[in-house]
Amino acid sequence: MSKECRNFTWEEFAALPLGQRNLLHCREETDIYHTLNAEQFDRPALDRIYTLTNIIRSISKTKNGATYLANRLRHQRAMLYFAQASTRTYLSFKTACDILGIRCTDVRDTSTSSEVKGESFGDTIRTFSSYFDVIVMRHSGEQMAEHAAYVLNCSDRPVPVLNAGSGKDQHPTQALLDIYTLRRSFETEGGINGKTILFAGDLARGRTVRSLSKLLALFDNVHIIFSAPSGFEMKSDVLQFLDAKGVHYIQTQDFLSQLPIADAIYMTRVQDEHDSGENRTSQRSYADFSLRYEHLALLKPKCAILHPLPRRDELDAKIDNDPRAKYWRQERNGMWTRAALLAITMGAELQIQEYWRDLSRQASHTAIIDKELLRSEDDDKLWKPIERYLSLQN
Ligand code: MLT
Repeated sequence: MSKECRNFTWEEFAALPLGQRNLLHCREETDIYHTLNAEQFDRPALDRIYTLTNIIRSISKTKNGATYLANRLRHQRAMLYFAQASTRTYLSFKTACDILGIRCTDVRDTSTSSEVKGESFGDTIRTFSSYFDVIVMRHSGEQMAEHAAYVLNCSDRPVPVLNAGSGKDQHPTQALLDIYTLRRSFETEGGINGKTILFAGDLARGRTVRSLSKLLALFDNVHIIFSAPSGFEMKSDVLQFLDAKGVHYIQTQDFLSQLPIADAIYMTRVQDEHDSGENRTSQRSYADFSLRYEHLALLKPKCAILHPLPRRDELDAKIDNDPRAKYWRQERNGMWTRAALLAITMGAELQIQEYWRDLSRQASHTAIIDKELLRSEDDDKLWKPIERYLSLQN
């Protein structure tokens, strides 16, 4: 299907409805190729990514397993094209590539690329595809990752593009790791269905919240609370998306009153790199949208506190050691989920699953494994006993 993009100029393509564009970006061989936006994922796709995430995470704990994984994609090369600042997303993609053996090169300073000589964006991207098998890309422009995918779909050497953050718009791989973190946080609490998620901060320009809200719409009876200072409320396109999906949400500036009912709180910083004209955030106070150590007493005992990081004053560092603080795990989960996404995208999923099945068979012959659990279809139940088995092999 992706070749059909050739029937459109970029301007015509970009004007198509998102659902149609997402279909045109797909290839027939695999349903996860480019990762461009949250809307392209459904529940089966999430389950598939998280099943592989758990497997990779478990296998990596042993020397044999880590060596097996590191040999899966040694023949592949990745371009990490980060035209905007990044610590976690860059490092987690880099380490995810390391886990799978993918060799990486990066362009992080565009003043060192031929873009400064006037090379077009399309030519830069096509040049990357001459040398690399996947492009992980962060850009300040909102449709640039999709534009890159379009350019490659039209070319004779298409390679997958993974959006690692596009302007103020989307951060789909962050949303994937956020859902994974929520899923694990609510493992013994009935999962994400029916939970109340409170988002706080600069919601108008926070791409992580925009993508995550859309993925949350895939779950049943989720209730979303958006709490932002005046002028920085969640944009209408996301609210319309949630309306269309029948997701219940409210908007409020009374952040504190919502703390006792939240099952998860997702804090975000002021996105002042996008400041312009009169909309200068430095002149505003975010104190009313900050989570302080004293607030912990108001929270549910199992409330999960998330933050995509980096943080500023909106999240008190004294909270870090509270068991409800999940943001450091969230950061590490980024490496595992991105490794799973890369493995699926690059065609290593089936081999890794086969290795896992072999381990399960070996584990089932030992006394430490409950055979009933091994027959279970529930990945989370299956995963823990095999992990116990693996730890004894080390
Ligand atoms: C992002 O890239 O959007 C971040 O990880 C979150 C932020 O910068 O606030």
